[in-house]
Amino acid sequence: MVKKIVVANWKMNPTTLREAKTIFSNLKKQLKKTKGIETIVCPPAVYISELKRISVGSKISLGSQNCFSEEKGSRTGEISPEMLKTSGAKFVILGHSENRERGDNDELVNQKVKLALKSGLSVILCVGEQERDEEGHYFRFLKKQILDDLDGISKNYLKNILIAYEPIWAIGAKATGVIDKKQLQEIAIFIKKVLVDKYNVRDFKDVKILYGGSVNHKTVEELVETDVDGFLVGRSSLNKEKFNKLLEVVSLA
Ligand code: PGA
Repeated sequence: MVKKIVVANWKMNPTTLREAKTIFSNLKKQLKKTKGIETIVCPPAVYISELKRISVGSKISLGSQNCFSEEKGSRTGEISPEMLKTSGAKFVILGHSENRERGDNDELVNQKVKLALKSGLSVILCVGEQERDEEGHYFRFLKKQILDDLDGISKNYLKNILIAYEPIWAIGAKATGVIDKKQLQEIAIFIKKVLVDKYNVRDFKDVKILYGGSVNHKTVEELVETDVDGFLVGRSSLNKEKFNKLLEVVSLA
């Protein structure tokens, strides 16, 4: 059975470690009843080591929501990929639109991707257009973004890269639209093709694509019928009932 991947992006939530542990423990319980899902929780970085400790006995992996582009040194407030790895992270989300908005351009995202992979983390690379135009220029935008972010990264690392397609118009509370099954299927194939061509891989299955942007227990019902390999979930991952339902839907797919 091919496992679907579900990534929980907690963003800057919850406000206490205690709450974080409660959400995590509930998830651990739910996953005992749910089959066919690989789950990755990306909490605020300060919670990673404690959640890693209580993850024992579960198959939940931990990830960070960002990292710095250099290994060490006088960089006040920053966290390197190696440090995240030491804390128990296996994954790191890079290029999230909320970080791109604050200055992470493709060149910087590319540096971060390179260093994270070199440090042994797997990368969840977020890409996505701001808006869609009738002429389809967003396809060109996406292709360039993916190729720029992965510039200089060899095929050996492909197994450690998940591309998360997150169209900015569909993310978060300010979303202006919702993607439908047909649109998602089309873009999933497009992104897979970009990677298959870049890396000259034989099988579409060797490139993994996630979808993120207003994924919840309702929207996932139709989106799970596409060729995406999983979902990156923001708001809904913090709501116990909604997230449990979402996991149920994905596991039954
Ligand atoms: P959302 O966020 O699920 O709340 O839309 C997704 C994301 O920003 O990763």
